[in-house]
This record gives sequence, C-alpha cells and structure tokens, in this order.
Amino acid sequence: MISKAYYTTEIPEDRFEALSCIKDSQKPLKIILLGGVDSGKTTLATFLANELLNLGFKVAIVDSDVGQKSILPPATISLAFPETNFNNLYEIKPYKSYFVGSTAPIQFFGEMITGTKLLCDYAEDKADIIIVDTTGLISGSGADLKRMKIEMIKPDIIIALEKRNELKSILKPFENKIRVFYLKVYENAKSFSREERKEIRAEKWKEYFKNSKIYNIGFNDVVIGGTKVFQGEKILEDEKYLLESLFKWKILYGSKCDGRYTIVKRDLVNMPRQIDKNILYYIEPERFNNLIVGLIDEDSFCIGLGILKTIDFENETLEILTPISEEDIKNIREIRFGRIRVDENGEELGLLDRDSI
Ligand SMILES: Nc1ncnc2c1ncn2[C@@H]1O[C@H](COP(=O)(O)OP(=O)(O)OP(=O)(O)O)[C@@H](O)[C@H]1O
Ligand SMILES: [Mg+2]
Repeated sequence: MISKAYYTTEIPEDRFEALSCIKDSQKPLKIILLGGVDSGKTTLATFLANELLNLGFKVAIVDSDVGQKSILPPATISLAFPETNFNNLYEIKPYKSYFVGSTAPIQFFGEMITGTKLLCDYAEDKADIIIVDTTGLISGSGADLKRMKIEMIKPDIIIALEKRNELKSILKPFENKIRVFYLKVYENAKSFSREERKEIRAEKWKEYFKNSKIYNIGFNDVVIGGTKVFQGEKILEDEKYLLESLFKWKILYGSKCDGRYTIVKRDLVNMPRQIDKNILYYIEPERFNNLIVGLIDEDSFCIGLGILKTIDFENETLEILTPISEEDIKNIREIRFGRIRVDENGEELGLLDRDSI
C-alpha cells in the first residue's frame, strides 16, 4: 500500500454540512483540516476536493503532512492543483514544494509554518478554495504548532476531526473569528501501526527516487545551507594544523562562524578528548551519508530532493542522487541539508537532531 487515504462514498452526514458551507461561502476560501493521527484528514481532503471540482471550483491542496505525505516528495510541504477527479492525492503532481527536511515536524516548526504560509499565498490568486492537510500531531508542542499555523494562515474555515474533544483547547480561542466545524472521526477509520506507517513512507521514498542519477556538485557552485559545517569561513591552514596536532585528528573540513569552530574529522588515535562542543563542534564525515537534501531554487522553493551519498572534501564536491532533470540541476541555488537519512530503496536510516550537523 502506498497511501492510506482514497476517495470514498462512505461519507458521514456531518461532512456534507461542511461541504455545503464551503460551497456557499465567499471565495477565495482557505480551509484547514485538523485531527489526530488516522482521524481521516486526508480522506476528507480527497472527498472535499473531488466534490468541489465537480461543482466547478478551482481547488488547491497544500499537503503539510510531512509525517505521511500524500503528494510527493516526502519531507516537504507541497502545493498542487488537481484539475480532474482523483482517487488518491498521491496521483497528483506537485506544483511547488517547500523543503522541511524531516518526517517529524517537532524541531522544524519554522519550516512547517513558513512553507505552509508561502504555498497558501502562492495559491491565493490561482484557486477558489485552498485545502490545507496537516500532520496528526495535536498534543504537547504539536498543539502549539497547530495554533501558530492557524494564526499565520488565517483560514476562513477550520474542520476539526475529533474523537473526544481533543481539539477543543486548540480551537476555542479562534471560535469567535473563524468558522469551526467539529466533525466526528468516522467510526470505521482504520488505525495504522508505527511499522505500517514506516512501510508506507518507505514505498514513497522508493517511488520518488526511482530513476535517479548521480550528480557531482562543487562546493562553490551552490550555497550549502542547513548545516553549520559550511557557515562562516573556512579555517586557515595553521589553525587546521594546530587542531590536528592537539587532538590527533585528520581534519577533512573546518569552518568558523561567530567564534565557533565546526570540524569534520577522523580520529588518528583513540584517546579521551575534553572539548567544549559549544566552542569546537566536531563530527565524523559518515554522519552525512545518505542524508536527504533539498535542492532549492532562487525563490526558496524546493525543486526536488537528493540523497547525499558522500561529501568529497578533498575535491570539494557533493555526490547527490536525485531524480531531477539535468535542466533542473542548473536551477539549483542552494543545497539544503535535511535531518533524515534514507537509502534509495526507501529505507529510513534514522532522524538526526537539528543541532547535530
Ligand atoms: N469517511 C471515511 N470512509 C472510509 N474510510 C475512512 C474514512 N475516513 C477515514 N477512513 C480510513 O481511515 C484511515 C485513516 O484515514 P486518513 O489516512 O485519511 O487519516 P489521516 O488523518 O489523514 O491520517 P494521518 O494522521 O496519517 O495523516 C484510512 O484507511 C481511511 O481509508
Ligand atoms: Mg493524512
């Protein structure tokens, strides 16, 4: 299975009230769908989009569910304009995407909100109705993310899929200003285990990276962002020599920014080293292998994803596997490092902490 949500006619009655309100409201109209994991957000987005297309409206979908992305690529937020009826959001090509770089939004609230806002703004004069699908993270700091998204996006309608009032505390402050529909989670909605969710993601990664090619891109041909390794300026030869002798390292790359050093190194001897990582941060080169990177254009949108196979520090190139065309490679202004490692068969090799690279 590559996607959980599909078009269905098994639609509980309360969905039709929301549809009828959407139909009759002044356009353009922004709708945000909220609910816990497996509450039926994407199924509802699919239903609404199809029905609204049938009524002749121009529909935009902003898929901000980085955890279970329907519109590829994964680990991004995507805007799409379905033109005809569809069974599954997964069939739709993205029009623009914004790079988040992880499948877990927790450390990436800035990216989540910036991306959703930019794409909603982009869609505003191109669609009558914008439907924003979201992640199922609604408790703890996930509730803050949802609140900030609403504050930033300023939707006209919020549709909350609830089992037992789990969204009330997030939405109560907005009820006076925004039309909020509280709908019941469909009783037969299926739950998916962590393992099943991971398998579905694996199929999507694999699908996205099929037909990929390797490109070698020079450090100086693009901006390298999303990592402290390439911030500031490169360390000088005598600084490198000093650090190598002091800590018995082979330094592959070093930079300093605002008085702090970031070093990519290998240990030459096994010995204890007492180093304040706030001043001198050091990592092994393997940490970057198979890292997901965003290929960013001059408007800050994500042209596509790459898997960073290796960084060749000697020749100052990045070896990147990506399905994007040679023509699009020329439009890359920035290579932005993400925080998840994935191989070309779709297997997720782990999330990285935001501050770890
Ligand atoms: N109205 C419905 N009719 C039939 N099946 C439904 C309905 N709503 C949800 N389901 C089923 O419940 C499951 C979860 O739905 P869906 O993927 O839409 O939830 P979600 O809230 O988008 O989940 P996630 O948190 O992963 O994004 C799916 O298998 C879907 O087919
Ligand atoms: Mg979903």
